[in-house]
Amino acid sequence: MTGSISFILNGEEMEVRDFGPTETLLDWLRLSRRLTGSKEGCAEGDCGACTVLVGRLVEDRLVYEGVNACIRFLGSLNATHIVTVEYLAAARGALHPVQSAMVDCHGSQCGFCTPGFIMSLTALWLTNPKPTRDDIERALQGNLCRCTGYEAIIKAAEKASETRADASDPLYGGAEKIASRLRDLALTETATIEKDGERSILPASIADLATILACEPKATIVAGSTDTGLWVTKQMRKLDPVVFIGHLSELQSLAVTPQGIHIGAGVTYTQAFDTLSREIPAFGRLIARIGGQQVRNMGTIGGNIANGSPIGDTPPALIALGAELTLSGVNGPRRLPLESYFIEYGKQDRKPGEFVESVFVPRPKAGAHYAVYKISKRRDEDISAACGGFYLELENNTVKTIRIAFGGMAGTPKRASAVEAALTGKPWTEETVKAAQAAFDTDYQPLTDWRATADYRRLAVKNLLMRFYLETTGNPQELKRYPEAAE
Ligand SMILES: Cc1cc2nc3c(=O)[nH]c(=O)nc-3n(C[C@H](O)[C@H](O)[C@H](O)COP(=O)(O)OP(=O)(O)OC[C@H]3O[C@@H](n4cnc5c(N)ncnc54)[C@H](O)[C@@H]3O)c2cc1C
Ligand code: FES
Ligand code: FES
Repeated sequence: MTGSISFILNGEEMEVRDFGPTETLLDWLRLSRRLTGSKEGCAEGDCGACTVLVGRLVEDRLVYEGVNACIRFLGSLNATHIVTVEYLAAARGALHPVQSAMVDCHGSQCGFCTPGFIMSLTALWLTNPKPTRDDIERALQGNLCRCTGYEAIIKAAEKASETRADASDPLYGGAEKIASRLRDLALTETATIEKDGERSILPASIADLATILACEPKATIVAGSTDTGLWVTKQMRKLDPVVFIGHLSELQSLAVTPQGIHIGAGVTYTQAFDTLSREIPAFGRLIARIGGQQVRNMGTIGGNIANGSPIGDTPPALIALGAELTLSGVNGPRRLPLESYFIEYGKQDRKPGEFVESVFVPRPKAGAHYAVYKISKRRDEDISAACGGFYLELENNTVKTIRIAFGGMAGTPKRASAVEAALTGKPWTEETVKAAQAAFDTDYQPLTDWRATADYRRLAVKNLLMRFYLETTGNPQELKRYPEAAE
């Protein structure tokens, strides 16, 4: 058992043992290392002022991703390369091409957001030599600027792409060396780091994780920390002990088979994006609307399910696809339909000592229709007022199978079983759909909150069913009759 973690910070390899389980990377950088380039704007993953790059091995390949240092716990960073804005210019002795482009294009005014933008644009610059405007906007979804306006920053991204990385760039030219060091730093046994009686525990494998959770059933599991980080920065909660799982490669398998897609609980949205976009395009489009790029780089599908939130976006989308959840612990794996995991608000079917291991998404049948609609006040980086998944199999234009599930409409993500019953066995026509809409009032009694009123939610889900009908019947023109259903 070791009592430390090791990583590379900019150009320096470090072993760190003096930290608590909820110490954030941002506090550590600013307070302990005096690296004050990364700023704290919101401390909740929204503004991107704190963005730093974290390099890690994914399937043995080194990738650098922008992350929100304000909600990332230091204990999750073993065997990574942390890169702050200070490193970009210093290593070259001149401004980095992204920094020069920001100067040339007047992309900075008060400058508070600028280091975060620079880091997000550097992540894009490293991975995408010819970014489209869409690519740039997606890369910047998680960065807010109050002064300059985004046009100048987008122009800077385009200008930076005229200069390519070469061997002198430490992140590009030095990649092989860094990857090899990170391989050496991977844990071979459980690490427990204690400070002031509070513990951070890093299992070396999922077998270790099961054993630890059997002894510590009340421990808080932390994967990407995009929910748990806010428990600390916004609710000032103490978490002790914390069991970090984001580094466990066994939880990061992503496998496509003729039967469907197996997604390990530790797979991040970014890791899953290409596969899901290819296999189930509507699911891919949903992922692009979850958080900003930094949140997608950290947040996991397993965490979105495990937290049991009624407004998580992936559970309704997965339930409509008929997904199956695998929980695991010292007694081995246990499988259940995903929908039965959510018992009631704040209560899930997870026994003490169990963890979410994976989710299996059955491949939609040939000819089946599938759609996901997310309703939120802002298109980007916003939590849903309602999010619905629709899956439909027809036989001779009669509804053979239909699964509809919504988040934001009840205390859990929930199937619309009365609506499904009103549709099953009926011809798939506008009349059937109109007649079934009323059954949503049997299925859901939504609340009014700051995201939407109950009346808005009730109307929106009915219109979304009509939208689904119109899309499946291939007449998008007809959608114009239902503008309130537009995304
Ligand atoms: C700015 C911002 C924007 C966001 N936007 C969205 C959005 O658009 N849509 C959306 O749905 N969510 C959104 N979220 C919420 C969050 O990103 C997701 O819920 C995410 O999927 C959580 O995953 P994580 O790995 O970060 O979980 P963590 O924070 O690490 O954990 C979340 C919960 O799950 C538990 N847990 C994690 N992994 C496991 C496991 N394997 N087994 C058992 N328990 C586990 C933890 O103990 C905790 O209770 C946003 C968050 C932020 C900060
Ligand atoms: S400080 Fe705003 S995202 Fe971290
Ligand atoms: S330059 Fe002032 S917040 Fe962006």
